[in-house]
Amino acid sequence: MTDKTAEDTFTLTNDQTGDSWKLPVAKGTLGPDVIDIRKLYSQAGVFTLDPAFTATGSCKSRITFIDGDEGVLMHRGYDIKELAAESNYLEVCYLLLYGELPSKAEMEEFRHNITYHTMVHEQVHKFFTGFRRDAHPMAIMCGIVGALSAFYHDSLDIWDEKQREISAHRLIAKIPTLAAMTMKYSLGQPFVYPRNDLGYAENFLHMCFSVPAEEYKVSPVLADAMDKILILHADHEQNASTSTVRIAGSSQANPFACIASGITSLWGPAHGGANQAVLEMLEQIGSKERIPEFLERAKDKDDPFRLMGFGHRVYKNYDPRAAVLKKNCDEVLEELGVENEPLLEIARELEKIALEDDYFVQRKLFPNVDFYSGIILKAMGFPTSMFTVLFAVARTVGWVSQWKEMMEETALKIGRPRQLYVGEGPRDYVPMDKRKS
Ligand code: ACO
Repeated sequence: MTDKTAEDTFTLTNDQTGDSWKLPVAKGTLGPDVIDIRKLYSQAGVFTLDPAFTATGSCKSRITFIDGDEGVLMHRGYDIKELAAESNYLEVCYLLLYGELPSKAEMEEFRHNITYHTMVHEQVHKFFTGFRRDAHPMAIMCGIVGALSAFYHDSLDIWDEKQREISAHRLIAKIPTLAAMTMKYSLGQPFVYPRNDLGYAENFLHMCFSVPAEEYKVSPVLADAMDKILILHADHEQNASTSTVRIAGSSQANPFACIASGITSLWGPAHGGANQAVLEMLEQIGSKERIPEFLERAKDKDDPFRLMGFGHRVYKNYDPRAAVLKKNCDEVLEELGVENEPLLEIARELEKIALEDDYFVQRKLFPNVDFYSGIILKAMGFPTSMFTVLFAVARTVGWVSQWKEMMEETALKIGRPRQLYVGEGPRDYVPMDKRKS
């Protein structure tokens, strides 16, 4: 058992032997205190067990703070709602990477560095043709982003601060280009090169939706909505994909390989794949009349069906990103004149019913950011399979910032969790002719 005996130590006592050990307690700027268990094994001879890391901090970080009970998300101390209202995605990228809001000159230099790295090596185009056209865009992204390591050898030295920075800029700059190429490839349309006269979100929409046959003007409402989606997904402290990036980086892998590992982790429906799963679920429900049937299935423990886009590991009150996107969602639907689209009607009705339903209220299951982003992206015309790719575009800056922070630590130590072994004890090898048939 553990008892907090002094302000800065915890005492761990073995109830059987009476032995006890004092463990230091670390204090963050915000959030609960943390028991430092690094010396636990060498002192007490025991490990801790926490398979889904629900009670384990894996690192110290200065980048993002979340208070799940209060629905608070802050980057470098700035509230996400304020950033979404006042800032823009590129400025948030600067903030996440460098820790402070930029001066005018710093912002101009950063904007220039990102804008002038948006093109990808021409050979990358050939790389795409190795994929089937019907490949899932996330499958292509895993391969293509990892393959950047094969193209940008001059920024792979992870011990060189300048090279780390160039890789960070390259990733933030090129990921929208690669994502748009992925979409074009799966649609069978020609790739669209980036345009330096457009803003980050505007350029991305242009690369995704324009075709050589006609002029494409990006709607300011849609560019603004895309910019907000990017801001709201930019970082989220030590979630599954970010932790994957950190673990990969802890082995001294190069940044392109690390970000590719983040993309693979994001792909799953319990994480970034949820926005795609939301739309697939709405299609499966099919009509407002069938909502009660699916709500009952979501509550049934014998049925694997879950209401996608509802619930969150950390937010147990509401998701502050969802609150911002809900408003944005209405604006986008109005701009596009698709308020009466059947799937969106199902989404609205589902949201209303679930928010009043005892099962969801008691478990504090609220619509998360993916619920609304899925609806907006669908209305904008993105294929459902692209939704998680868009999440990866936005989250790249978070992954890169967390990787950069880890690399700047004085001693980089490889991440290596322990385990509770529950398999067979030692036994003798049995030759084939002596085994049971
Ligand atoms: N539908 C129905 N029931 C749910 C849902 C859901 N979406 N989410 C949680 N529950 C229930 C669980 O069955 C459990 O019920 P119980 O207490 O009766 O056993 C209770 O709520 C707590 O759920 P946990 O699984 O313990 O919650 P956890 O924190 O582990 O999971 C998660 C969070 C994975 C996000 C989960 O809510 C979920 O699967 N949601 C749907 C997928 C989704 O939208 N993911 C996106 C997350 S946000 C993001 O990645 C940006």
